[in-house]
Amino acid sequence: MSPPKSIQASPHILSLLNDLHSKSQSQERTLSMYTFWAIKLFTAFFSISSWTKSDDDYMRDKFIALEPEKCEFIYLLARSTGARNIVEAGTSFGVSTIYLALAAGQNVASLPRSEPGNSKPWAKVIATEKEASKAEKARQHWRIAGDDVEPWISLLEGDLLETLPRELEGAGEIDLLLLDIWIPLALPTLQLVKPRLRRGALVITDMTGIAKTAYADLLGYLHDPANGFRTMTTPFSGGLEVSVYLQDLE
Ligand SMILES: C[S@@+](CC[C@H](N)C(=O)[O-])C[C@H]1O[C@@H](n2cnc3c(N)ncnc32)[C@H](O)[C@@H]1O
Repeated sequence: MSPPKSIQASPHILSLLNDLHSKSQSQERTLSMYTFWAIKLFTAFFSISSWTKSDDDYMRDKFIALEPEKCEFIYLLARSTGARNIVEAGTSFGVSTIYLALAAGQNVASLPRSEPGNSKPWAKVIATEKEASKAEKARQHWRIAGDDVEPWISLLEGDLLETLPRELEGAGEIDLLLLDIWIPLALPTLQLVKPRLRRGALVITDMTGIAKTAYADLLGYLHDPANGFRTMTTPFSGGLEVSVYLQDLE
């Protein structure tokens, strides 16, 4: 496979990403995964969708990584906006986090050199994963990725509705929020992070096209001008919501 033209990364990282995406995609293309998602979408259509403990059990060994082209697009958005303070809701085995950390680290490197005595510019990708075994795997992947990735990530292990509020207290303004989490958690997470979003911050949500019904609460919130977002479902596979926080639209 030829290396993507979008990503600035060492051959070692590109090869790691290639390997992780291949593993994720081979899990996705099984009958059992198709059936799982078909049932979820069907039940959501009748407004009876919920996420159960047995769904968590089923997903514990699954990557469910964002597709490479979505990750590359998000990386480019992060580079173009100079994002250095990023929240990732839903980390799993840490694949999308690698792209976010690459972008955040490169955004730091492209800042003008700071004067001696001034504090060093920084970046932080706040990753969140509630499954301990997944968090451990993610850490291993970032270690393998090395210094262009690992130093920029701070992983919160546990339920993000409990771990994030504390972390956000000390965080500056958030430039980018990636919502790649179980659907019922998307709106509560956005509402948690929203007071910290900077004007012009990006909120990116996966699968809002195919799972429009299940995302009715989130989409309703994003579409209400009182909440300050402009938003579009971009035509990636399943739909990828790209929303910009503009604060006051009226
Ligand atoms: C779709 S996966 C994330 C995939 C990842 N963004 C990637 O592209 O590689 C969603 C993850 O969110 C995690 N998760 C679900 N509920 C959570 C919660 N309340 N707090 C933290 N993580 C949670 C799941 O365990 C799962 O690994």
